[in-house]
Amino acid sequence: QRAIYITRHGESEYNESQKLGGNAPLSERGVEYSVKLKEFFDNIDLKDDFEVWTSHMVRTKQTAIHLEDKYCVVSWTALNEIDAGIGDGMTYEEFQGLYPKDFELRKKNKLKYRYPMGESYEDVVMRLEPLIMELERRENDILIICHQAVMRCIMAYLSHAALDDMPHMRCDLHTVVKIVPGAYKNTISKFKIDA
Ligand code: F6P
Repeated sequence: QRAIYITRHGESEYNESQKLGGNAPLSERGVEYSVKLKEFFDNIDLKDDFEVWTSHMVRTKQTAIHLEDKYCVVSWTALNEIDAGIGDGMTYEEFQGLYPKDFELRKKNKLKYRYPMGESYEDVVMRLEPLIMELERRENDILIICHQAVMRCIMAYLSHAALDDMPHMRCDLHTVVKIVPGAYKNTISKFKIDA
C-alpha cells in the first residue's frame, strides 16, 4: 500500500519572528529538523522509487537537503506558500495595524479573503489541483515538504474536511503526517519530531 507523507518545512527565520511570507532560510532549529527528518525516513522501509516534493522556496529545499543524498527531489511552484501580497514580510500585528479592514475581512472569511496583490486559500486550492491529480495518479511513496496554508489545502482534500474548516486546520511545524489511501477512508497518522 502506497503512502503519502506531508510536512511543513523546518522552522524558518521568519517563523521565529512570526512574519508572513518572504523567502527566509531555516533557523537553527529548522536545520536540526532537516537532519532529524532524514533520520526519520532512514528508519522506514522505503522503496527505491520514493520521491520528495518541495516548493520552490528556500526553506522547503533546505529541509530536503539531506534527503537529496538518497532520494529524488522534485520542486513545484504550485507548492509555494500562499502569497500574502501587501502583507508579505509583516507580522500579523503589523498587518492589523496598517490594514485593519483587511485584517477583519480575513478573520471573517479566511477561505475567500484574497490579500491585495496576493492570494486567497481558494486561489491556492485552484493552483494545487494539477499537483493533487499527479499525486493521486502515482503509486509510489511521496514526501511533500510544503508550507502551512498549502499543507492545510492538501490535508483538507485527503481527509475530506469541510472547505470552511480548512484555513483553520492545525498543521504544526516539525510534524510528519502519513496518509495511507483506503477504499472508503484514508488512514492518517502523525509523528512529532523533536527538533
Ligand atoms: O506563518 C507561516 C506562514 O506560512 C506564512 O508565510 C503564511 O502567510 C501563513 O503561515 C499562512 O497561515 P494563515 O493562513 O493562518 O495566516
